[in-house]
Amino acid sequence: MITFFVVAVACLVSVLPTATYADVCSYVSARDCSAYGVKPVCGTNGVTYDNHCKLATAYCQNHQIQKAHEGACGSVGSATTTKPVNGGQIALDIFCADLADITCPAGGSRVCGSDHKYYENLCTFDKARCANRSLHLGSGCMKRSY
Ligand SMILES: *[C@@H]1O[C@H](CO)[C@@H](O)[C@H](O)[C@H]1NC(C)=O
Repeated sequence: MITFFVVAVACLVSVLPTATYADVCSYVSARDCSAYGVKPVCGTNGVTYDNHCKLATAYCQNHQIQKAHEGACGSVGSATTTKPVNGGQIALDIFCADLADITCPAGGSRVCGSDHKYYENLCTFDKARCANRSLHLGSGCMKRSY
């Protein structure tokens, strides 16, 4: 009985994410989106996605894709006046929800944020964007600061 428990725990631990991710899209693209259930969302490309995860994955392949509205495209009562939401923000939502499980690689190319601070790489920059959604890539970085 105890042996069974130990084996079960060992299996559970082995499926937890241990990989490092370069950025939001490398994380999102590694997701099993079927785990996010079926909550249809309409893309600005006219495609209905099963959930935000699938729309975010599509965005990561084609950055033109935005969320048009919740619900299937052309569904009754779909809010045509809703302002489209950038697919990058949807992808960031998924990344930020799992922040504690995400390990950023060490090193890489540092990037400059709109807060004029350097970040070690895109992954650490994306983690900072979870705390400040106004943050974007910028210029004029003066001092090294992670
Ligand atoms: C969030 O980012 C914006 C844009 O770079 C910046 O102006 C602002 O100071 C940041 N806010 C915080 C709390 O760091």
